[in-house]
Amino acid sequence: MQNFEHLVTDVTSQESFCCLDGETLLNASVRSGKNIIPVGCRNGGCGMCKIEIVGGDYRTGKMSRAHVTEQEEGQGIVLACRTMPGSSLEIRSKGTSPGFN
Ligand code: FES
Repeated sequence: MQNFEHLVTDVTSQESFCCLDGETLLNASVRSGKNIIPVGCRNGGCGMCKIEIVGGDYRTGKMSRAHVTEQEEGQGIVLACRTMPGSSLEIRSKGTSPGFN
C-alpha cells in the first residue's frame, strides 16, 4: 500500500512540511524539524497546537470543547495533534502568527 504525502504550508512564514496520510499535522511538523506548530501534550488536552486550516481537506479526531468551540471548529480552527490531512493544506499557526490565538 502506498503512503501518500500531503504538503502543508504555513501561509504566514511560507514554510512547508510533508504529512503522511493518517499522520497528525503536529507529528509531521515535529518530524520536519521546523517549529511551525507549537508542541504541547500531543494528546488533545492542552490547546497549544491550535491552528487554523485556511485551505484544503482534513479530518479530525475528538477535540476538547475547552480548546476548540463548535463555532471555531466551523471556522477551520483545529488541534493539530488531532488533525490529519486529506489533501494539501494551507494553515495559520500561532507559532508564526503572533496575532492568532
Ligand atoms: S498538543 Fe496539546 S492539544 Fe495538541
